[in-house]
Amino acid sequence: MLMPEFIPVLRKEEIDKKVAAVARRISADYRDAELIMVGVLNGAFIFLSDLIRKISIPVKVDFVGASSYGSETVSSENIQLTKKLEIEIKDKYVLVIEDIVDTGLTLAYIIDYLNSFNPRSVKTCALIDKRERRKISIELDYVCHRLRKGFCVGYGLDYDGQYRNLPEIYHLKS
Ligand code: IMP
Ligand code: MG
Repeated sequence: MLMPEFIPVLRKEEIDKKVAAVARRISADYRDAELIMVGVLNGAFIFLSDLIRKISIPVKVDFVGASSYGSETVSSENIQLTKKLEIEIKDKYVLVIEDIVDTGLTLAYIIDYLNSFNPRSVKTCALIDKRERRKISIELDYVCHRLRKGFCVGYGLDYDGQYRNLPEIYHLKS
């Protein structure tokens, strides 16, 4: 079996620094609001768990599930909601937390879904903004890292369900 090649993209110190910086901005921007963070499963669970521990204002957390990739590294346009929102967000300030935004289709779908509950606002936060294959113009309010292309794994990001446990982020070259 051919071993995949892992090319380092983001080291632990750099991830920590960027997550802390975004957490400071969020804490300042929402200091007078009742913030609800909604993580998109599965990929965002590690990013969200690090991010939330650096947030210095009161915050509630919930998750939604979305699946767009099968075992392929290309995005499917067929997005499915795999877990519904459970918390009440009507008239609340919502911040969606995504691991990586590629075509933008998943995030656009999640934003529409959340807007159907009539929140006060829905803003977006992504660990990685990957531009090359963007299909929907979407505003990302908070971004830790921008990449032009490449398939990333580690720190929550998977390939076929694997490699989420890697503490740093790599490009997967097969
Ligand atoms: P989009 O709908 O094309 O924007 O894809 C978004 C979803 O696909 C993200 O939530 C990720 O879970 C997954 N994804 C996109 N690019 C990558 C990648 O480079 N590595 C791992 N997962 C990715
Ligand atoms: Mg995801």
